[in-house]
Amino acid sequence: MSEFLSEYFNWFNQAAKALEYEVHGRLWEPPYKGLAIVGMGGSGIVGDVVYVLAIDLLDAPVTVVKDYKLPKWVEEGWLMIAVSYSGNTLETLHVVKEGISKGVKVAAIASGGKLIDLTVKEDLPYIQVDSGYAPRSAFPALLLSTLRLLKALGIKLHDDLRKSIDVLRRGEDAEALAEEVIRAVVGRIPFFIASTKYYPLAVRAKNEFNENTKLPAKAEVVPEWGHNDIVGWEGWREPIAALVFREVDNEIMKFIAEHLKDSGFPIKEFEIEDSDYVKNILKWSQVVGIASVKLALELGIDPRETKSISKYKAFLKSVLKLD
Ligand code: F6R
Repeated sequence: MSEFLSEYFNWFNQAAKALEYEVHGRLWEPPYKGLAIVGMGGSGIVGDVVYVLAIDLLDAPVTVVKDYKLPKWVEEGWLMIAVSYSGNTLETLHVVKEGISKGVKVAAIASGGKLIDLTVKEDLPYIQVDSGYAPRSAFPALLLSTLRLLKALGIKLHDDLRKSIDVLRRGEDAEALAEEVIRAVVGRIPFFIASTKYYPLAVRAKNEFNENTKLPAKAEVVPEWGHNDIVGWEGWREPIAALVFREVDNEIMKFIAEHLKDSGFPIKEFEIEDSDYVKNILKWSQVVGIASVKLALELGIDPRETKSISKYKAFLKSVLKLD
């Protein structure tokens, strides 16, 4: 098996280890005026997941920042969790420095790099995850560490993480579902459609097919989908496939799946049955991860290499200087 593919199959071990990582630095304490989760790409997706968990539980505002500057209203008294697997992503480092200078309570997750150097220097709270992965294949470590760090800082967004990660033990189930995803995607451009709650999963799936399979892909969110994108499908006849993540009790998603079927589009529905959100996100992220890596390997593509991202980062370095 390719080494990169086995990283995805080994997610249970990665996750179990992440539950043991030490929390370093001087801890912040609530109350916080708001929570900002900062990060890009494979690290930034953690922010989307945390946002969904937090909007139903926190009384304060929550925002996801995937940019090189902070919104003006993120100010002193806010908590910021910066997530960067490499610890060297320029957008994230810029926002962290801006946060520190504004008196935001900054904390971080990284495997090393400048972000860890900075948090150690400033005695900020942080968790250091294992290095050696690609940011996207380190997703369980990044997500679980972020949830654990938040808990250590007084924000509890989850129940029993040990129970949630158990689903990753059964790699064969994930592989069988991944084969179904591959069959739906092969020879087509995948469009992932989900409710607001599972939009992070649709984005994650899109990103995985972008980075691993080197395919353009799209993520759409319902109910907004029903106000514009639904019309686009009336005229589009290119080789596309709709992959719908549908909670069993979500009537709107059911309507959308039926509508697409009636229109004659190739559509594949994946039912989400359980109520444990972290478990579902981990499970389905593993499924689409395995699918995107396997399809790349079948097509003779190197799933790990992301040379266009390296080119973009080199360009950014020349315009976004750090002092
Ligand atoms: C995913 C990937 C990118 C990075 C992004 C940010 O595997 O390579 O999406 O996650 O460029 O870099 P990090 O995660 O190091 O902050």
